[in-house]
Amino acid sequence: ARLAIFISGTGSNMAALTYASRLPDANYEVVLVASNDENAPGLAFARAEGIATFSLPHKGMSREDHDAAMERAVRDAGAEYIALAGYMRILSPGFVERWAGRMFNIHPSLLPKYKGLDTHARAIAAGDSEAGVSVHLVTPELDDGEVLGQLKVRITTDDTAESLSKRVLIAEHQLYPRILSDYLARRSEAADRL
Ligand code: GRF
Repeated sequence: ARLAIFISGTGSNMAALTYASRLPDANYEVVLVASNDENAPGLAFARAEGIATFSLPHKGMSREDHDAAMERAVRDAGAEYIALAGYMRILSPGFVERWAGRMFNIHPSLLPKYKGLDTHARAIAAGDSEAGVSVHLVTPELDDGEVLGQLKVRITTDDTAESLSKRVLIAEHQLYPRILSDYLARRSEAADRL
């Protein structure tokens, strides 16, 4: 399958997805890395790895126009699936609906807990003993689509949001490629049965 990845920043999940796609038996390839920030560090990684990139700052543009330009880049690259990986923009409902069942996100909490931002600080403030990460399908409601897989991370009494986020990020890098591959394998089996 051909995958586009949307980022806004570091892109460490995008890097994990990219290297996993080059392992034997991988069932997807990363054909585009797109960003709403032309200075996103992840774009340099993608270029270094020979992946096509697209960036368009969203400032001064309507959400619909920005999404339309991103979508055009995805279609030009021939991508069939989109993985959001630290993409800090809410996508317009029309975009999300067109990619229903073909667009994923990774969120640093055990959904349905802690949708939105500052997940680690909120988990610690609540006295939780475990945090974690979820990969889910994207629906118009933020961080609300079907959860495809989760990984738990223990919270220790001396954790800060920063120390916890570092361990959760390692878990993210393990989870995202695996869940994506499993989902794509199930999709292609279902297609074979038709
Ligand atoms: C990750 O924690 C991801 O779960 C969240 O944003 C962060 C992106 O990190 N949505 P990176 O850009 O993949 O390093």
